Amino acid sequence: MSDIIAERTGGILRVEFNRPEKKNAMTGAMYTRLADIFNEAGEDEGTRAVLWHSAGDAFTAGNDIGDFLKNPPGPGESPQARLMDAFIRFEKPIVVAVHGAAVGAGTTMLTHCDVVYAGESAKFQLPFINLALVPEFGSSYSLPARIGHLRAAELFLLGEPFGAARAAELGLVTRVVPDEHLFATATETAKKLAAKPSGSLRVSKRLLKRGFIDHIKEAIKLEMQEFGERVRSAEAKEAFAAFLEKRPPNFAKTATHVAAE
Ligand code: COA
Repeated sequence: MSDIIAERTGGILRVEFNRPEKKNAMTGAMYTRLADIFNEAGEDEGTRAVLWHSAGDAFTAGNDIGDFLKNPPGPGESPQARLMDAFIRFEKPIVVAVHGAAVGAGTTMLTHCDVVYAGESAKFQLPFINLALVPEFGSSYSLPARIGHLRAAELFLLGEPFGAARAAELGLVTRVVPDEHLFATATETAKKLAAKPSGSLRVSKRLLKRGFIDHIKEAIKLEMQEFGERVRSAEAKEAFAAFLEKRPPNFAKTATHVAAE
């Protein structure tokens, strides 16, 4: 069975993360496949809206940490860069149903979606700091732009989890829905969107994102430069090893000097 299922029924492309045993953590192959899915859906006249959800009890635990050790991303070509580019170019509406853990990219990818429903079980986290990393997916721009510096700083610099109600309060999700109604609610909205005039939908989304896109592109470029350095640092290697060995990290001996700008 594929780690990502994509099937179109009528005008709705249903995309399902299907790696529940690893909490849908995203491998390089999954980033690439998701990018291909969005790129193909962008070209496919029959696709009018995307409905995105996950199998198991988590939306996604973000980047696969073992994969970070094997294939650390950096500036230039990478599966992550391919997906970011696909998100930026995708002009059809994306409806997401988030339940359980939505960690790291599981939260930042949502800032590229249009309707985000959070089940009451949803638990978000931007744990980059705990992994000795930095924000990605353009979130160093999109988050403070949406919720203000102080709130974004709290989420990024402390890296603590927060629930669906807080996510709604912050404006990171459209609405909180009981878990048992989550998929049906998202499906209903995807159906409504698929019935709208697709040309107007496309141009409306383009207009809504005008201005935002240039900032996002600039943020992604800078983030990937910094991310590429951080992900190869002794601090990050210690954080990844600690996660895989199921122990707390010890950053006492891994301090990395970062020069002042
Ligand atoms: N990368 C690789 N493997 C991951 C993973 C990740 N991001 N997240 C979870 N897994 C794996 C676990 O190692 C475990 O594998 P195992 O069964 O072979 O031991 C399995 O998925 C289940 O995870 P577990 O931690 O036991 O589930 P949980 O319900 O206790 O906690 C999470 C779920 C998502 C809260 C927790 O797994 C977590 O915090 N993951 C790390 C998320 C993270 O930091 N992502 C950011 C990357 S930038």
